[in-house]
Amino acid sequence: MASHEVEAHWTIEDLDFSRIALDRVRSDENLFYLVAAASFIESGSDLYTHNLVDFFRGDEEVTAWLSTQWEQEELQHGKALRAYVEYVWPEFPWEQAYRGFLEEYATYCKVELLAPTRGLEMSARCVVETGTATYYKAMARSTDEPVLHDLATRIATDEVNHYKHFYRFFRRYREQEGLGRFRVLGTIGRRTLELKSEDADCAIRHVVRARSPERADDTAYVRGLGATMNRTIRTHLSPGATLKMLMRPLELPARVQTVVQYPIQQFMQHVFLR
Ligand SMILES: [Fe+2]
Ligand SMILES: [Fe+2]
Repeated sequence: MASHEVEAHWTIEDLDFSRIALDRVRSDENLFYLVAAASFIESGSDLYTHNLVDFFRGDEEVTAWLSTQWEQEELQHGKALRAYVEYVWPEFPWEQAYRGFLEEYATYCKVELLAPTRGLEMSARCVVETGTATYYKAMARSTDEPVLHDLATRIATDEVNHYKHFYRFFRRYREQEGLGRFRVLGTIGRRTLELKSEDADCAIRHVVRARSPERADDTAYVRGLGATMNRTIRTHLSPGATLKMLMRPLELPARVQTVVQYPIQQFMQHVFLR
């Protein structure tokens, strides 16, 4: 545990919750949902770490990093976001709502389909980290509440760092497996489409169930919440940076990159535009 990188990592104590500008966030229902849903998904990280560690069994470098650094950091994201929710919206029964979420979420993780090869799974992981990095960067930009801005920025930095690790592992496996661009593109496309997947929907549903139980079965209301959250992310994301991260594993020559940039950009718009 006492590796260099882990020691250098921030802790929840670095966040000064007493500095939270309550008047800027407390009545923002959309922000509440963005933070609470993220706290659920991050807190459930250990469910799928297991699958991944199994998948990379024998590759010490990868499995050691996954369980000593990656999982710890994702869980810390969950803890910090939860602490923020509990500070600003103390009436929200986090624990109880999370238990409901976990029960359903666990059934997804069991059937979570990993990519057909280790190299392709690494490229898929790059997509997932691109998605989370984008989410938190957008969250940071969307608020002028200093503590949430600070927290979301720290988490976004971690997600970019996760991306870099997965990208490095990807390159090693790509070489080993002799992966072609089209296979990588297929995986990236599929995972990008899955980014706004059932995970988020499941989290939102369970937050609603605890927040406004009378509307839990109102699918139009729940869908509306999701759409507003997506709009916040879309308005505050930097498409250039996201696109660059998504395309990097393809390692396209500059000339080809210019050609495919537009269709990929359209595709991304489509993903974030629901
Ligand atoms: Fe995270
Ligand atoms: Fe991450």
